[in-house]
Amino acid sequence: MKKITIEGGTPVFGEVHISGAKNSVLPLIAATLLTNGVSLIADSPWLSDVDTMCRVLTHLGAETGFADGELALDTTDLRTVEPPGELVRKMRASFLIMGPLLARTGRARMSLPGGCAIGSRPIDLHLKGFEAMGAQISIEHGFIEARADRLQGARIYLDFPSVGATENIMMAASLADGITLIENAAHEPEIIDLANMLGVMGANIKGAGTNSIRIEGVPTLKPARHSVIPDRIEAGSFLCMAAATGGELILNNVLAEHLQPLLAKLSEMGCAIEVSYDSIHILGPEEITPVDIKTLPYPGFPTDLQAQVMALLTVCKGTATVTETVFENRFMHAEELAKMGADIKIDGSKARINGVSHLEGARVMATDLRAGAAMVIAAQMAQGKTEITGVEHIDRGYENLTEKLRRIGSRIRICEA
Ligand code: UD1
Repeated sequence: MKKITIEGGTPVFGEVHISGAKNSVLPLIAATLLTNGVSLIADSPWLSDVDTMCRVLTHLGAETGFADGELALDTTDLRTVEPPGELVRKMRASFLIMGPLLARTGRARMSLPGGCAIGSRPIDLHLKGFEAMGAQISIEHGFIEARADRLQGARIYLDFPSVGATENIMMAASLADGITLIENAAHEPEIIDLANMLGVMGANIKGAGTNSIRIEGVPTLKPARHSVIPDRIEAGSFLCMAAATGGELILNNVLAEHLQPLLAKLSEMGCAIEVSYDSIHILGPEEITPVDIKTLPYPGFPTDLQAQVMALLTVCKGTATVTETVFENRFMHAEELAKMGADIKIDGSKARINGVSHLEGARVMATDLRAGAAMVIAAQMAQGKTEITGVEHIDRGYENLTEKLRRIGSRIRICEA
């Protein structure tokens, strides 16, 4: 078991190259199952979640390889439609193979998915979509099986704009008979990235990035080469670190339009921000002005940046609030921040943060992926040394984090716990 230690209390300075988006590459890998041949995914980050997804595909019969930031996936021969439970339970995004497998082979069977412990995270909307398209679904002993001779296009209204359900249904519908309309679809940039790759594969998708996506099924899709969009959450985490430490960073390989809610809030907090074609320059303030934040589906404030922004608000001059509306039970980092001296009161889905003068180094835990990033930010701000356990969560979503942090002046070490 690894742990991170950080000698904090110093600002971060320098340049950071942002990796390809984890939340894009996982559905893109799943999408390659829709085709027969070799697909290439460029600008892919190498993360433990990417490794897990590749191992899921390898188990199904695909061949996968990674070199120079490019993933190669040969999905010509599939020998099974049942991925191993221990891989599926590791990562919720593994459920994204259900739609492609069902559409391509007419059957998929897998155990209920796992992932970060941030609420109950059901999959009812994915299943509602497959059923509307004519699939027979059965759930027994923790396994879900879906069958359909050929999926039929359908009109599907999502009760919540779920990212995963939108992606899974979009992939399945690409090979269905007829037209599928997803209403109240998720708008996230990763949905557009997936639609772009499916388009290169020959799918007929209109409206990705709006709340109504229309997919006209085609009989076959061909393999494609596609480049992953930059990771807006990794970029947002570094922006929060610059703000929190009063540092100065230039982030390269970013799309600022994907980060509008965070950039607006960081400006309100007193950061100076300059945006250019594919980079963002941020200068953290001397004092952090308190702000109120509410997470929402895109284009609202991302729930995946809630923990990181809470870490930086712990030292604001006054009282800030953070309201989480996307997931229940996503405030586990508040308790860890409190160990470092933060004053946070949780009332249901709302956290009230009374700014303190500074944080103190402590022993804390990364309770999930983004909470882990929040701990790293807090550790960099804090006086003294912080030890962070649960590093495996952080490895799921941040490529070369220790290296990137060292280059911007962090006194970070990684060692066996
Ligand atoms: C994706 C992201 C995750 C991010 C989340 C919300 C990936 C790999 N992960 O997760 O990092 O935090 O979007 O932006 O892209 N829900 C249901 N029924 C369903 C599906 C979802 O009730 O069938 C609920 C969930 O419990 C949650 C909300 O919808 O409360 C959002 O979930 P969803 O958008 O599906 O998130 P994921 O796709 O799992």
